[in-house]
Amino acid sequence: MRFARLVSAGVLALAAYGLLLGVSAFAGTDKPNENKPAVQKPEPGSPGDTLTREDARMALLVYKLLDKDGKIKGANIERGEQLYMQNCRPCHGNDGRRFNFSLYYEEPAFIGDRARKEMPTFWYQINFGDKERGMEAYIDEFPLQDLIDIAGFAQTLP
Ligand code: HEC
Repeated sequence: MRFARLVSAGVLALAAYGLLLGVSAFAGTDKPNENKPAVQKPEPGSPGDTLTREDARMALLVYKLLDKDGKIKGANIERGEQLYMQNCRPCHGNDGRRFNFSLYYEEPAFIGDRARKEMPTFWYQINFGDKERGMEAYIDEFPLQDLIDIAGFAQTLP
């Protein structure tokens, strides 16, 4: 009796060991393949692409357009100035200081402050606007590069 129990315990132990080996061998073959991304990205605009237009524009800013200091990369500042003067100056003024975006008890904040310190807010606003506050949406008015140029120029405003 004792012998039989010992044998079955041994068989069990062996089985467990085998299982472990099997699992680790399987895990071994499942190493991520360098040539294949871990997560397959859906094509932009395809049915598998669940990003909203807003998400996609904001992700672009965060991943591609901002450097580590929060500055816009790849902006043509001179062109941005022209575009600002033609399109934004009528409301925001030459130097961007016509509207103060802060609440009365906060430090004043103008176009330049927003663009330097809070580019995500700035970027969202110039792309999607704010109907209630009277700010236009420009995502369908300007090519992406124009908005990048405007954002780059805005960071130079006082
Ligand atoms: C028709 C007038 C008008 C034009 C043109 C306009 N804006 Fe605005 N914008 C506004 C108004 C009004 C607000 C809201 C101001 C407020 O609530 O204090 C605003 C808000 C903003 C804000 C939001 C700031 C914040 O922190 O909430 C940004 C950024 C901005 N405008 C940038 C621009 C840029 C850049 C352009 C040119 C591409 C532009 N605007 C053109 C009227 C305009």
